[in-house]
Amino acid sequence: MIRSLLVIAATTLAVATGAAVLHGQAPQKTTNDAVYTTAQAERGKATFSEKCAACHDPARFTGDAFFDAFNNKALKEVWDIASGTMPEDNPGSLKPQEYGDLMAFFLNLNAFPAGEAELPGNAGAMANIKIEKPKK
Ligand code: HEC
Repeated sequence: MIRSLLVIAATTLAVATGAAVLHGQAPQKTTNDAVYTTAQAERGKATFSEKCAACHDPARFTGDAFFDAFNNKALKEVWDIASGTMPEDNPGSLKPQEYGDLMAFFLNLNAFPAGEAELPGNAGAMANIKIEKPKK
């Protein structure tokens, strides 16, 4: 009995989460919810050095420069630019997870908290996270 209730609860949650993403509803999480790992951000840093640093100073993706453009928007907005148009000389040439790692690197640069689970490299996960300035 309890077991079947749990199954129903889990199924309902899964359907609700999927529907929110599909219907473009408000993100369920924010960048303050520990949505990436430190190890992932380290990988993103290495990828950035290799694929992005020729044109960008990492400071381009921190502080006012970052929040003026992206505060209160879904992380997917940054993801779409990065994975769709960057690197400018070879757009979309990285693996999805490498773009995910770059997003983790940007979150780490902005001192958002890291956690136990990696940020998945896909648009649905990015759409579910709202960029919100770190709480002071
Ligand atoms: C060949 C040069 C070049 C490379 C390499 C490059 N970029 Fe860009 N990128 C640009 C230019 C030019 C712009 C537009 C001007 C700007 O916003 O700095 C831009 C803009 C962006 C923006 C939008 C910033 C904003 O606030 O709107 C993001 C995000 C970005 N790049 C991410 C990346 C990532 C991640 C990589 C590495 C995978 C990368 N870029 C590699 C040239 C490059």
